[in-house]
Amino acid sequence: MAMLDGVQSIRDLDLDGRRLFIRVDFNCPLGDAPDGGIKVTDDTRIREALPTIRLAMEKGAKVILASHLGRPKPGKDNSKLSLEPVGARLSELLGVEVHLPDDCVGESAKRVVRDLRAGQICLLENLRFHAEEEKDDEAFARQLAELCDVYVDDAFGAAHRAHASVHALPRLMPQRAAGLLMQKEITALSKLLEAPDRPYVAVLGGAKVSDKIDVLESLLERVDALMIGGAMANTFLAAKGVDVAASKVESDKLPLARTILEKARGKNIDVLLPVDVVVASGIDATDGSIVDADKIPAGTMALDIGPRAVAAFAKRLESAKTILWNGPLGLFEKEPFSKGTFGVARAIADSKAFTVIGGGDSAAAVHDAGEQVAAKISHISTGGGASLELLEGKKLPGIEALRGAARA
Ligand code: 3PG
Repeated sequence: MAMLDGVQSIRDLDLDGRRLFIRVDFNCPLGDAPDGGIKVTDDTRIREALPTIRLAMEKGAKVILASHLGRPKPGKDNSKLSLEPVGARLSELLGVEVHLPDDCVGESAKRVVRDLRAGQICLLENLRFHAEEEKDDEAFARQLAELCDVYVDDAFGAAHRAHASVHALPRLMPQRAAGLLMQKEITALSKLLEAPDRPYVAVLGGAKVSDKIDVLESLLERVDALMIGGAMANTFLAAKGVDVAASKVESDKLPLARTILEKARGKNIDVLLPVDVVVASGIDATDGSIVDADKIPAGTMALDIGPRAVAAFAKRLESAKTILWNGPLGLFEKEPFSKGTFGVARAIADSKAFTVIGGGDSAAAVHDAGEQVAAKISHISTGGGASLELLEGKKLPGIEALRGAARA
């Protein structure tokens, strides 16, 4: 079954004058604003939801937006996780007022929703200020359901969470559909699972093999070549008997890395590990040296892939027709260790393949590599954990809950 089978689109819905609940993922990074307040430091997720929000406004809906933000701790002061700065940024981007009740349920939410006119918007306060959200609590979902007539999920980034607003709530709503971002994400990512044009090449990075076991298993069933960088590559190099000196290695994952390499060999999948790396004495070093991957000096650690590795990866990427990239290839947040990640980002952007970047750190890395690089990528996912779980072949609760809705 194709992943969007049985899922309606917001385009199919009659929304004129109706109260529309749109679950968005506005879990955006925050930082200090010049006036001493808090501001959104990366508004990608807000921008990506704009097409759905604008469509809802054009269709005359009374738009009720809801999101989580961060991971509030019970009994702690969580006021810094208010969605107010997000509402302010959304209002700037849309050029309209965004009404902000001080809770997501109860009297203040009901009052703001009651006063909304067609085409107007409110943004409910952080759903996770209620512990029931993460518990997928049905009574809490019923309180949210009281606010609306129709439900749309555009929060791809939260689709892997069986939480009340993405799982219990849509199942209570006869009319439910996917938003445009949700559809775009599923269409792009499911292509990699269902019908990738070949050769299909995956580039995997990040710190730990343990975070990527399931996706590695899934990719071994699908790709023609696999490139591995980041600290994860150290474990694979060590599994092949290379002395990686003081580099980070997951010693307990060495047998697993060997199994993966063997499986890949059995399936004729090329596995490219870095042939050279950038080493330094520690992560706070301000400079690094380029050495062959099998000659890492004692007392140093690999913090990036080297230029010959970038060239080898780029060469293999040239002939690919589908490319997936998940996980940075080095400590790209620090300039001396960013060239490998940015070099591969440019190679992916320059390729003619259908290119997909998993969310989270790899999406941040592509944007840091320059907006001209990001603009040439076919799809940059807004969901880190969600895109990984989807590519592992798992069913995402937020998508499953949308199936089988009544016709509008
Ligand atoms: C994300 O940032 O990946 C999503 O918003 C999900 O957030 P969570 O990991 O806190 O559930």
